Amino acid sequence: MKALVWENNRIELKEKNLPKIIHPRDAIVKVKLSSICTSDLHIIKGFVPKAKSGIVLGHEFVGEIVEIGSEIKNLKIGDRVSANCETFCGECYFCKKGFINNCENGGWELGCTIDGCQAEFVRVPYADMGLTKIPENLSYENALFVGDILASGYFGVELCNLQKGETIAVIGAGPVGLCSMACAKNFNPSKIIAIDINNTRLKKAKDLNLANYTFNPNECDIEKEIKNLTQYRGVDCVVEAAGSNESFKMAWEIARANANIAIVAMYEENQTLPLPQMYGKNLVFKTGGVDAIHSEELLDMISKGIINTDFLITQTYPFKKIIEAYDFFENHKNDCLKVAITY
Ligand SMILES: NC(=O)c1ccc[n+]([C@@H]2O[C@H](COP(=O)([O-])OP(=O)(O)OC[C@H]3O[C@@H](n4cnc5c(N)ncnc54)[C@H](O)[C@@H]3O)[C@@H](O)[C@H]2O)c1
Ligand SMILES: [Zn+2]
Ligand SMILES: [Zn+2]
Repeated sequence: MKALVWENNRIELKEKNLPKIIHPRDAIVKVKLSSICTSDLHIIKGFVPKAKSGIVLGHEFVGEIVEIGSEIKNLKIGDRVSANCETFCGECYFCKKGFINNCENGGWELGCTIDGCQAEFVRVPYADMGLTKIPENLSYENALFVGDILASGYFGVELCNLQKGETIAVIGAGPVGLCSMACAKNFNPSKIIAIDINNTRLKKAKDLNLANYTFNPNECDIEKEIKNLTQYRGVDCVVEAAGSNESFKMAWEIARANANIAIVAMYEENQTLPLPQMYGKNLVFKTGGVDAIHSEELLDMISKGIINTDFLITQTYPFKKIIEAYDFFENHKNDCLKVAITY
């Protein structure tokens, strides 16, 4: 089969052997649609130390089960499934607490330490945990982002413990930030504020009614704008989904005292907290690689029309042109948000 392999800091379409079941909780999935994640770009640039050279990239996909291990009882051959970006056993200390990103037997493996989904077929370990059946009324497109980008957006909102009537600012109106806004709506906040330096993305957040207010910090005094909207307090919750030095600083600057700040972004550089300056602001910072444990709920919400992520697919590429798709995605060509790779 053809697969996109990352080796020596470059990507290449190569011929690989078909994956095989090697554990009774494995499944083999025929990939029907996959996507490229900003985290794939972080791997290619060498910012993910645990990534193994020579692996097939990709961890965001939907597909059909074509082979199944003997211990899997909740799925069968022919099932249409959405895949979790994380591998998790469901049984270890961390899994039992819902912290599946730190599963003692898994974590971020697909497309990082083991072969991922930017290939025609993929082996999914602990498939009984990591694959979720797609409801009948949903297409593959409808479900593509459930296991990664949508889960991460939801996770950001959950991490900052957004309460009804509170104000939430989402820094970064990229795919993850837009998903956070879409999820935040369901927590009934009083205001959703989108912040980005890309006006096209801000316009999208406004046009899709995902945010009540949008600000470009390069074109305004962001702290002042936020203060004006929040009785000079600052926002109750911040989701940092931009990942730059400036956005990290902004996250605590626009927060009110005692606010919750969820750092969902992945940084390419160390960040520092000026604790003397912040003393007394009593902020709560939470960081996280997504604990993507809500796939079933998210699919149910999509199925009922409560959340819709179809707008994220701005371009579609056949798998044989995936290298072109990477360039398109990385450089935000034609205002690209996400690409869907077809097989
Ligand atoms: N925690 C997780 O498990 C998880 C999962 C998926 C993605 N991520 C990370 O989340 C981040 C967002 O992902 P994405 O796909 O939406 O990325 P993206 O690059 O498409 O979006 C980031 C957005 O931030 C904006 N931005 C950059 N600097 C800014 C600034 N100073 N102020 C305001 N906005 C600024 C950019 O214009 C862009 O629109 C990435 O770092 C990605 O690696 C984390
Ligand atoms: Zn990802
Ligand atoms: Zn586990």
